[in-house]
Amino acid sequence: MATDRSDALVLAIETSCDETAVAIARANGDIVASEISSQIALHQPYGGVVPELASRNHNLTLRPLIEHTLRSAGIELEEIAAIAATAGPGLASSLLIGNTTAKALALALGKPFYAINHLEGHLLSPFIGGGSDIVPSNLALVVSGGHTLIVHLRGAGDYEVLGSTKDDAAGEAFDKVGKMLGLPYPGGPEIDRRARGGNPAAFDFPRSMIDSGDFQFSFSGLKTSVFYQLKKLPEPLDEATINDLCASFQEAVIEVLVAKTITAAERTNERIVSLSGGVSCNRRLREAMSAACEYAGLDLRIAAPEYTTDNAAMIAWAAAIKQGQAADPTPLDQDINPNLKLVGK
Ligand code: KG4
Ligand code: ZN
Repeated sequence: MATDRSDALVLAIETSCDETAVAIARANGDIVASEISSQIALHQPYGGVVPELASRNHNLTLRPLIEHTLRSAGIELEEIAAIAATAGPGLASSLLIGNTTAKALALALGKPFYAINHLEGHLLSPFIGGGSDIVPSNLALVVSGGHTLIVHLRGAGDYEVLGSTKDDAAGEAFDKVGKMLGLPYPGGPEIDRRARGGNPAAFDFPRSMIDSGDFQFSFSGLKTSVFYQLKKLPEPLDEATINDLCASFQEAVIEVLVAKTITAAERTNERIVSLSGGVSCNRRLREAMSAACEYAGLDLRIAAPEYTTDNAAMIAWAAAIKQGQAADPTPLDQDINPNLKLVGK
């Protein structure tokens, strides 16, 4: 059933959290269409994602979004050669909507189905469009709302996780600190924006585990430190102090992310560093990682901004690569896995 035609089309669905996303990719990695229906406004009043609301909304949005994606790309459903969906990690009730829809489509069309690990999608996203045979060996940092991972990516499908977070993910820390500061959800983009007008040296927050000698992270102590700093400041906070808190917190996160990434690249003898996941949108992280890589003589590949936060293009491309590698399709009775791990070869 698998095809090796470079123009064969893969339709992918991503519903692991609060974005409903559909994309179509060619087997050579070209993204033909990528549509995202964001639920941010729906969850904003609650200050975080409400799983029941997320799954109900995926249910309402997914079918029209698939139709819209096909129509806007001028593609008929019958032209699709394979269907893919994120199988985990993520929210169970959200994953189920995308997965069940993708399997039903695959069954109805008689096409192969590919279950994709969301983290693999993020990992491969800096190389979208480059062709499956040129995902180079590199040292990868994935920073999102749910994960902070340092991975030795030796090629598509060949991964070794070198470190992860012991508590909060980097994006989660941004969102929780944003909430403490009274900023709208999600805190990440808002802190990024406000930090541009703040002083990163105004508050001395801890660089947790920076000297631990391994590739583990911990961000919950930093979050607590912001909490105790807030207790010492007079209420209400003025705009300049909020901006300084944002800049100082952000700098503490970024310094640790950059230092561990560069050390990991040196230790694995990799010359390429890749950066992906929602937090890789962050302007200061992109700047600091670029400067550190340049200094260390490393080549940095960052996901294009539209492929940093959750999207289905990265899932379509990961599936296209699997097809190119003649991987077996996923059996339709294989369940989703909210705790799916990234496994190497
Ligand atoms: O990859 P993603 O969309 O979802 C997960 O797989 O978790 O990442 C979402 C995370 C959120 O925590 C959000 O606050 C963070 O990415 N984020 C940012 C920025 N844009 C999104 N964090 C810092 N700076 C940004 N500009
Ligand atoms: Zn994600």
